[in-house]
Amino acid sequence: MPTETAANPSLPSLSTSLPGPKARAIIERDHAVLSTSYTRCYPLVMRRGRGAIVEDVDGNRFLDFAAGIAVVATGHAHPKVVRAVQEQAAEFLHMSGTDFYYESMVQLAERLVKLIPGDVPRRVYFGNSGAEANEAALKLARYHTGRDKFVAFFGAFHGRTMGALSLTGSKVTQRRGFHPPLPVHHIPYPNTYRRPAGSTEAAHALECVRVLEDQLFRTILPAEEVAAIVVEPIQGEGGYLVPPAEFHHQLRRIADKYGILLIHDEVQSGMGRTGRMFAAEHFGVVPDIVTLAKGIASGLPLSATIARADIMNWPPGAHASTFGGNPVALAAALATLDLLEEGLMQNAAEIGEHLLHRMRNWPQRFRHVGDVRGLGLMIGIELVTDQASKQRAPELRDRLEFRAFERGLLVLGAGPNTIRLCPPLVIDREQADFAVDTLEQCLREMEG
Ligand SMILES: Cc1ncc(COP(=O)(O)O)c(C=O)c1O
Repeated sequence: MPTETAANPSLPSLSTSLPGPKARAIIERDHAVLSTSYTRCYPLVMRRGRGAIVEDVDGNRFLDFAAGIAVVATGHAHPKVVRAVQEQAAEFLHMSGTDFYYESMVQLAERLVKLIPGDVPRRVYFGNSGAEANEAALKLARYHTGRDKFVAFFGAFHGRTMGALSLTGSKVTQRRGFHPPLPVHHIPYPNTYRRPAGSTEAAHALECVRVLEDQLFRTILPAEEVAAIVVEPIQGEGGYLVPPAEFHHQLRRIADKYGILLIHDEVQSGMGRTGRMFAAEHFGVVPDIVTLAKGIASGLPLSATIARADIMNWPPGAHASTFGGNPVALAAALATLDLLEEGLMQNAAEIGEHLLHRMRNWPQRFRHVGDVRGLGLMIGIELVTDQASKQRAPELRDRLEFRAFERGLLVLGAGPNTIRLCPPLVIDREQADFAVDTLEQCLREMEG
C-alpha cells in the first residue's frame, strides 16, 4: 500500500483494506439487484473524482488509468465541463433535437465536421452511445448503397445492440445466445506482434486484407453486395492493436474499387486520445463515415455519426432518437473540445510518449511482457507465459490488473491478455511515473 504518497493529492492513498466496509456493503446490495451481465474485475465503489484521481466510498484514493473505459477525456469533473453542464442544466435539460432546434447542436456539428480529416462537406447525426453511433452508420450505409452486407474484423468491438453486436468479433460470450446477427463477414486484423515469422509488418497487413479480395470476394461474398467495411483505426477492446498504415490504405483502396463505404469507428481511439484528434490522422486515410462517443463529452452520454454530406441524405424520419444530442451532453462536449484543443491533446501526445519511452524495454526486462504498443494515451501491454512461445496469459493479465488496484492504480484489460492504459488526458508526468513504477513493482512480484 503506497502510504508514502498519502500527502500528495495527485497520487493514491489507501487507508482501508480493499474493498473497505462501505464498499463491501454496496457491492453486496449491487449483487442482489443489478444485471448479472456486468463485468466488474475489482471491487471499486466510486464516491467522487477530480482529474485523474478517484476516491472510493471508504476514502481511499486511486490513480485512474481506466477513465471509465476511456471516457473521461478531460478528467473527472473538470471545472470547465462542470460549469458548462450546470449552466446548460439551468436553461433546459431536454427538448429533443430530432423535433426541435437548439444552437449547441449546430455548434458542435460545425466543429466536428471541420475536424474530421478530408476536405469534403459532412453532416452529423447525434446519438447517446458508441453502439448507437454504429447502428446509425450501418443503417445509413445500407440506405445509401442499397446493399445489405458488411465486413468487420476479428477482435473488433463495436457495441452490443443487435447491429453493432453483429460487427463485434471480440469475445464469444458477447455473441452466444443472441443469434441471428446481421450478415457481417469477419476478416483478420493485423497484430504485428503475432505476425508470422519472417513476415514484415506491411506484408502481414497485406495478408489480412488479401483474405477479403482473394478469398471472400471470390467465394462467398459478392463485393457488390457489401455496403461497408467497418474498422477501428486502432483496435481497442481487441487489445490496443496499432496496425501498419498500409492496412488502412488497402481498405480505402478496396472500398473505392468496389463502391463500398469505409466506416471508421473512432469511439475509443478518437477525441485526442492518441495525441491527434482522430487516430486515422496517424495513417493518412479519410473515411466516408466516422463514429464517435466515449471521450466526446467527458462522461456525459453522447455519440456522433459523421458522414459525407452526399451519403447522409436520408429523408426526415428515416433515423432519429429522442435523447440524441441532449443539450447538457452537448454543452459538455463543447467544453471538452475547447480543452482538448487548448492543450490536452498535446499533453496526451507528450505523456504518451513518455510512458512508451519508459515501458518499451519491458519485453526485455520482464519475462511475462510480450509486447508494449500504442499511440498517445492508448497503450497496450500484452502478457504472455514466456517470450519464446508468446502463449497468451489471461490469468497473469487479470492478476496484474488486480495487484495494480491493490496498489491504488486503476487499469483495465483489453482482449484476452492485454492490459490497457487509457488515462484521462490530464495526467501529468508524476502520475505517469507512478503508474509505470507501480506496474513494474507488480510485474516483479509476479515474476518472483
Ligand atoms: C471502438 C468501440 N466502438 C463502440 C463501442 C461501444 O460503445 P458503447 O459502450 O458506448 O455502446 C466501444 C465500447 O467500448 C468501442 O470501444
